[in-house]
Amino acid sequence: MRENISIALAISWFLAGFTLGTNTPLLNPVPNQVARLVVDPEGSQFGQLIEGAATDSWGNFYTANYGDDQTTNTLAMVTPNGTAHLIYRDSNSNTWLNSVRSIRPPPGHKRDHLRLLTGDVKGHRVLQLDYATRTTENLVPRSPVVSVRCADPGMLQPNDLAVTSDDHVYLSGMNYTQDSILGDGDLWWCNPQGEARRLDIMYRTNGIEVSPGNRYLYLSEAINRNGSVVANRIWRYHIDPSTGVKLRNQRPIRSLFVDFEKLDQTQAADVDGMRCDSQGNLFVTRNSLGQVVVFNPKGVLKFRIHVPTIQGVTNLEFSGPDGRVLHIVGSCRDKMNTTKGCIARWTHDTTGLEWELLH
Ligand SMILES: *[C@@H]1O[C@H](CO)[C@@H](O)[C@H](O)[C@H]1NC(C)=O
Ligand SMILES: *[C@@H]1O[C@H](CO)[C@@H](O)[C@H](O)[C@H]1NC(C)=O
Ligand SMILES: *[C@@H]1O[C@H](CO)[C@@H](O)[C@H](O)[C@H]1NC(C)=O
Ligand SMILES: *[C@@H]1O[C@H](CO)[C@@H](O)[C@H](O)[C@H]1NC(C)=O
Repeated sequence: MRENISIALAISWFLAGFTLGTNTPLLNPVPNQVARLVVDPEGSQFGQLIEGAATDSWGNFYTANYGDDQTTNTLAMVTPNGTAHLIYRDSNSNTWLNSVRSIRPPPGHKRDHLRLLTGDVKGHRVLQLDYATRTTENLVPRSPVVSVRCADPGMLQPNDLAVTSDDHVYLSGMNYTQDSILGDGDLWWCNPQGEARRLDIMYRTNGIEVSPGNRYLYLSEAINRNGSVVANRIWRYHIDPSTGVKLRNQRPIRSLFVDFEKLDQTQAADVDGMRCDSQGNLFVTRNSLGQVVVFNPKGVLKFRIHVPTIQGVTNLEFSGPDGRVLHIVGSCRDKMNTTKGCIARWTHDTTGLEWELLH
């Protein structure tokens, strides 16, 4: 009975939406926000494969693909004033860094030590970069100690990575095919001992994030049919430090968090990078929509951030001097030249989760 009433209500709201248009405040209660470009196509030193997003405790921002399409083996730091500096170039030019996260430095160290994890798509590995001499906020980190955090040739990529505050690493990955099959996507777990284990076999997976308190793991999944994207969903797992995620009969338990077909019919636009703020709201990039959508911890859409200047939004992270400035990266929306990577900013009223873990 209750279901019937809610279906009737939903239908009448749906019909009213068509009749009254989208500018009616009652029917469009989600306020829209707009991000502002800070690295533009003219000034950009980034290629269009700009990806991954991290902050340090000073508020400098980190992302990959400094240079052009050929230099996928690079990471750069962007200072709060928008200046970019190369901080890492892997010795193997086939290395393709597509993800970056900042994790807590070793015990006894604070802001003097920067520790980054970065995923190598081609090398099927996660590198740890340790920069031990960060004495001031403006000092550009140089000459890291490089180690392999985990690796497995069975990984599809990794595409993106997420970390808990106690050193568990989760990886997404995909094989982009005309017709997706189970196995075109995966979920991997690297435990604190450095062992890599595959937890789930799926359609292609991409955005990945851990919620505050290391409670949940969010993972996006997309399906292609005959060359078109036909589904985009976000799943939620319960984190378990002994098995990666909670299992039932040896299988991971997951529940549907958002289905974009049901939400707003945008299932054809891929979910890309995802990040939590310190309150547990999930910020989700929609690659090709030029948009970030924000969900509360119950999966309810709170608002959208439009990024009119970036076509393919790929990733995002909170950074800046107070940890509230969301940095959004992706290929520039520039009709003349789409070979550059751009960065936009939007200021939140609270800090990012990674920022909180570093302080
Ligand atoms: C931005 O900050 C860097 C230090 O990281 C400094 O060298 C540079 O001059 C500054 N640029 C501008 C335009 O303020
Ligand atoms: C990716 O998909 C293609 C096409 O179906 C297949 O030939 C290839 O083996 C797949 N790669 C992996 C690593 O599964
Ligand atoms: C698949 O796409 C091709 C080319 O766009 C089209 O000709 C064909 O009819 C499609 N097949 C199906 C089963 O939709
Ligand atoms: C686009 O960017 C590339 C790489 O920086 C440059 O070589 C090319 O001249 C640019 N083209 C246009 C039309 O601006």
